[in-house]
Amino acid sequence: MKGSWNSTSIIPLTFYSLIFLFTFNFRDVFGVPTKHLCRPEQRDALLELKKEFEIKKPCFDGLLPKTESWANNSDCCYWDGITCNAKSGEVIELDLTRSCLQGQFHSNTSLFRVQNLRFLTTLDLSYNYFSGQIPSSIGNFSHLTTLDLSKNYFSGFIPSSIGNLSHLTFLDLSGNEFIGEMPFFGSLNQLTNLYVDSNELSGIFPLSLLNLKNLSDLSLSRNQFTGTLPSNMSSLSNLEYFEAWGNGFTGALPSSLFSIPSLTSINLRNNQLNGTLEFGNISSPSTLTVLDISNNNFIGPIPNSISKFINLQDLDLSHLNTQGPVDFSIFMNLKLLYLLNLSHLNTTTTIDLNALFSSHLNSIYSMDLSGNHVSATTKSSVADHHPTQLISQLFLSGCGITEFPELLRSQHKLANLDISNNKIKGQVPGWLWTLPKLIFVDLSSNTFSGFERSMELGLPSITRPSMQYLVGSKNNFTGKIPSIICALRSLITLDLSDNNLSGSIPHCMGNLKSLEMELVRILKIYTALDFSENKFEGEIPRSIGLLKELHVLNLSSNAFTGHIPSSMGNLRELESLDVSQNKLSGEIPQELGNLSFLAYMNFSHNQLGGLVPGGTQFRRQNCSSFKDNPGLYGSSLEEACVDIHAPAPQQHEPPESEEEDREVFSWIAAAIGFGPGIAFGLTIGYILAFRTYLKNLEEENQSNQKNSKKVNLQPLHMKKV
Ligand SMILES: *[C@@H]1O[C@H](CO)[C@@H](O)[C@H](O)[C@H]1NC(C)=O
Ligand SMILES: *[C@@H]1O[C@H](CO)[C@@H](O)[C@H](O)[C@H]1NC(C)=O
Ligand SMILES: *[C@@H]1O[C@H](CO)[C@@H](O)[C@H](O)[C@H]1NC(C)=O
Ligand SMILES: *[C@@H]1O[C@H](CO)[C@@H](O)[C@H](O)[C@H]1NC(C)=O
Ligand SMILES: *[C@@H]1O[C@H](CO)[C@@H](O)[C@H](O)[C@H]1NC(C)=O
Ligand SMILES: *[C@@H]1O[C@H](CO)[C@@H](O)[C@H](O)[C@H]1NC(C)=O
Ligand SMILES: *[C@@H]1O[C@H](CO)[C@@H](O)[C@H](O)[C@H]1NC(C)=O
Ligand SMILES: *[C@@H]1O[C@H](CO)[C@@H](O)[C@H](O)[C@H]1NC(C)=O
Repeated sequence: MKGSWNSTSIIPLTFYSLIFLFTFNFRDVFGVPTKHLCRPEQRDALLELKKEFEIKKPCFDGLLPKTESWANNSDCCYWDGITCNAKSGEVIELDLTRSCLQGQFHSNTSLFRVQNLRFLTTLDLSYNYFSGQIPSSIGNFSHLTTLDLSKNYFSGFIPSSIGNLSHLTFLDLSGNEFIGEMPFFGSLNQLTNLYVDSNELSGIFPLSLLNLKNLSDLSLSRNQFTGTLPSNMSSLSNLEYFEAWGNGFTGALPSSLFSIPSLTSINLRNNQLNGTLEFGNISSPSTLTVLDISNNNFIGPIPNSISKFINLQDLDLSHLNTQGPVDFSIFMNLKLLYLLNLSHLNTTTTIDLNALFSSHLNSIYSMDLSGNHVSATTKSSVADHHPTQLISQLFLSGCGITEFPELLRSQHKLANLDISNNKIKGQVPGWLWTLPKLIFVDLSSNTFSGFERSMELGLPSITRPSMQYLVGSKNNFTGKIPSIICALRSLITLDLSDNNLSGSIPHCMGNLKSLEMELVRILKIYTALDFSENKFEGEIPRSIGLLKELHVLNLSSNAFTGHIPSSMGNLRELESLDVSQNKLSGEIPQELGNLSFLAYMNFSHNQLGGLVPGGTQFRRQNCSSFKDNPGLYGSSLEEACVDIHAPAPQQHEPPESEEEDREVFSWIAAAIGFGPGIAFGLTIGYILAFRTYLKNLEEENQSNQKNSKKVNLQPLHMKKV
């Protein structure tokens, strides 16, 4: 037989391709099958499987309950998610990803009575609502090469029989509730991809993994692993991607990792690794593009050899306790750096911003030097100096800076600037407003005394001012608010609280003074904001995270879209959060799981999806707080909704107005952009807010008269906690 194949060169091409088509592509070529391929016992096993699990309604947007096409009167090889071996008719792939299937696995679950489906090479159950324990009979699928059980609610131990599936190349168990130690996987020597992240796994680093010479991707992140990382990690000689962030690993960073020539990405942030950093014998040329070892307990110098990682794009060393000098020129070789986080290095060295800005970090996008001592003193040549690199985000909070960095004047790509918590005196330079891309500026907690006089005169060069967030609280601003503020037409948030401002309000803000004083007074006393039952649309602004003293926030029954900002995780005092009945999408930020006072939440009637954060606060919510969000899943949700059937889908009333009204958006944005802890000073946002609110009310009245439709627009409620 083999001999005849060796003489393929004399076999006519048509014959050759005919064999190929028959073997692999039978049904594609012939369209309607001439005979049923599916084996009856396999069809029955699959139908039984279908019967065993419910389809969760409503299903995610765009997801198809694949089993709906499964019917007894058709060939199972043509059902959604099923692939058969065209020759033998055996079912070899079962792909039920994103099929909205719900139900608990039992030891007798039909799927695992595998005599009928034992030739499966691919089993993909990812992104469903399956729960329960994986029976050890999964080990009987001895032909499996791909096993994906990720993003479900599977719990209990990972069955050790998975370690017997020696043909596996791809194994994804991430995003479940598996507990305990990882079983012995040392026999899975074909494995290239292993993901067990986002579970509740514990124990030490699973040493059996070090036998897996073919492993290229390994993720252990977001579990409860402890102990040290093995020093012989380099036995994973084909490792490319290694993630173990968010665990409790201790001990040294194994330098042998850096000798693996294929390694491109290491993320070990948020562990308890300690000792001094050693990169050892760095493979040359290093292919490493991502190195994140931030938020560990490392002490001591940054090795000079870091400059050998010439392909690094993302480097995060923040909170490395260097306890001494740092030679910042070692980073200057890393010409591909895009994100550089060197914040809080506890170094005795002063960083010379001028030197950094005339270096050759030509790709740099974001740089964080916060918490280090930075010198930004103007040198005579600098003003006309053309910087070699342009940056978009610069974080210089708490850097002991004494004068406004003049060199930023030529940074015409700068979008975000945080220069808060420094010692800058004098005037905010007028040229700052002329930087064409600037969106966010935080000047708070300095000793600025005013805005450069030229601002008062107006700045003709501001043609398209981009500034949206200007935070200038906790300074020494005195006198009138400069009327140039009126020229910043994109401004959403202006926070000038905790200053010594006085005098009249710029003309552009209308003649509401008395009202403004009233609002300021109210907001000093109350720590609750209730914007419910209005027509606010657009996104909830990230600046909401600035309202650190807020106890109650009610945004329910509006038309908010976009994501819930993760900055809400900064609202440490928050006790009650109601965002129900909006059009919010994306995930519930995991950060909310850390808010220990948050006793009441309501996310119902939105389009939220993804993992509901863990933590007791979420688990204790009433199930109705998550209702009508087709895409939510996770153990917290399960616990909240235990014994309650999935609610029936509800019809939304169409929103009362679809029109884009930017001012409505800036109303809420402006209003919530301010902390309530206002001491002295004026808070222009409230004035803008109130003016827009009045305008809005007027429009509503007009439209009420026009179409006599009842529109529910309530004034701003302020409730005392
Ligand atoms: C499918 O139909 C066949 C006969 O048409 C029957 O024998 C079999 O029991 C049916 N299977 C299921 C699961 O209903
Ligand atoms: C499987 O076991 C569960 C309990 O463990 C039982 O309730 C159920 O009836 C069994 N199902 C089948 C198909 O045997
Ligand atoms: C793995 O396979 C071996 C041999 O077939 C068997 O003896 C052993 O019990 C299996 N282990 C598990 C955990 O299923
Ligand atoms: C790696 O080192 C550990 C001890 O730290 C040892 O038990 C294990 O056998 C070693 N594995 C390999 C593959 O070298
Ligand atoms: C460093 O690695 C290179 C190439 O991988 C090897 O030739 C050299 O011996 C190593 N040096 C040490 C000190 O291990
Ligand atoms: C939020 O406001 C709505 C409508 O005004 C109200 O029904 C709901 O009870 C409020 N939520 C909380 C937590 O007070
Ligand atoms: C959940 O809240 C609804 C409405 O607020 C209430 O009727 C129901 O009794 C609550 N259920 C539980 C289990 O607390
Ligand atoms: C959450 O809000 C919805 C609608 O706003 C309401 O029906 C439900 O009762 C609320 N749930 C709780 C626990 O208050």
